[in-house]
Amino acid sequence: MLACDTRPGMAAPFDGVHFPSMNLTQTILGVEFSNPTVLASGIMGITASSWKLCAKNGAGGITTKSLWLKEHKGHANPTIISTDHWTLNAVGVPDAGPEKAKEEIGSFMKGKPVPLIANIIAESVENFAKTAEAILPLKPDFLEVNISCPNVEDEFGRPFACSAPDAAAVTKAVKAVSGKTPVFIKLSPNVDNIGVIAIACAKAGADGFTAINTVGPGMAIDLKSRMPILANKVGGLSGPGIKPIAVKCIADVYAATEGKLPIIGTGGVYTGEDAIELMLAGASLIGIGTAVGDRNVDVFKKICEEMQLWCTNEGVENVSDLVGAMHQELKKRGLKGVRKVSVS
Ligand SMILES: Cc1cc2nc3c(=O)[nH]c(=O)nc-3n(C[C@H](O)[C@H](O)[C@H](O)COP(=O)(O)O)c2cc1C
Repeated sequence: MLACDTRPGMAAPFDGVHFPSMNLTQTILGVEFSNPTVLASGIMGITASSWKLCAKNGAGGITTKSLWLKEHKGHANPTIISTDHWTLNAVGVPDAGPEKAKEEIGSFMKGKPVPLIANIIAESVENFAKTAEAILPLKPDFLEVNISCPNVEDEFGRPFACSAPDAAAVTKAVKAVSGKTPVFIKLSPNVDNIGVIAIACAKAGADGFTAINTVGPGMAIDLKSRMPILANKVGGLSGPGIKPIAVKCIADVYAATEGKLPIIGTGGVYTGEDAIELMLAGASLIGIGTAVGDRNVDVFKKICEEMQLWCTNEGVENVSDLVGAMHQELKKRGLKGVRKVSVS
C-alpha cells in the first residue's frame, strides 16, 4: 500500500499497473512536456541531482527554487509544520546565490531529461530584471516570476502580486530583458480578485501564469507553551486543504484571460483526479509541491497513472482536451460563467 492511503479522500493506489496509451503530452508555447506534472518551486531545493530524481520518477518538468540575485538567508527554525490536511511553511526563500544556481542548472542542462522552469524572486522591480538577466544565459525553458510569497511581508512589504500596478511593473521589467524565453507570473491567492491582477500582467506582456502560491499567511499555536509554532510566527499554507482555492483561482484567471494564456495550476494536488480537476478549471500543466513529501518522490508517476486510468474510463484520448472544459460545459448548458473581469 502507498503512503497516500492515509490522506482523506485519496484515490486507490495503482502501483505497478499500466494502462493503454492515451496521450498525456502537453506542448506549451513550443515546449513539449511528456506529461502535465511539474515539480513546484521550493520543494526539492536547488540541486541537479534532486531534479533528475524527480524526472526519473515521472515529473514532466522541473521548477527550481526561487533564485535571488545574491545569497539570501531564510528564516530561523522551526520553519515547517504539517498535518494531514495542510502544511504551514516559513522557510523564507533561502538561496545560496547565483554561482550555486549556475553550477546546478548547468549540470541539469547537460542531457536535460525534462524542461526546466527557472523561478526568480527579488525585493525590487529593478532586481527582478537583473535576476532574470543573470539566469537567462543558462537557457531555462520558461522563467517563473515569484511575486507572491506570503512570508516576505516583514522584510519587503506587501507582495507585488497583491497590487495590479506592482505586478504589471515587475512583468514589464522582466519582459524587457527576457527575449524569446516565455515569462510565467506566479500569482497569489491572497487578493480580492486574482483576475484583475492577471489582466494587468497580461497587458504588461506575461506569456502565462502559475496559480497559486501558498495561502495566507496562517498561524499555528503550541498549546503548552502558548507560543506560535513557527519561529517566523506565520507561514504560507499548502497541501490538500488549499485545493478548492487553487481551483477557484485558476478558473478566475482562465476566465479573465479568456483561456488565451497557459496556466501552471498548483495547489493541493495529490492524485490524478486532483490534477484533472485543476485542468478542467483551466490549467495546462500541474505543479506538485507538498505531495512530494507526503506521497514520496514517485508521486509524479502515480499521478500520471491515475490520470491515465481516469481518462481511459472516461474515453478521453488527449489530456489537453480537458483544459478549461468546465468553462465550456457551463456555456454548453447555457449557464453563467465564473466571474469575468472588466478592466478599463
Ligand atoms: C516548503 C515550501 C517551500 C516553497 N518555496 C517556494 C519558492 O521558493 N518559490 C515559490 O515560488 N514557491 C514556493 N513554494 C510554493 C509552492 O511552489 C506551491 O506554489 C504551493 O506550495 C502550493 O502547492 P502545493 O499545495 O502542491 O504544495 C513553497 C512551498 C513549500 C511548501
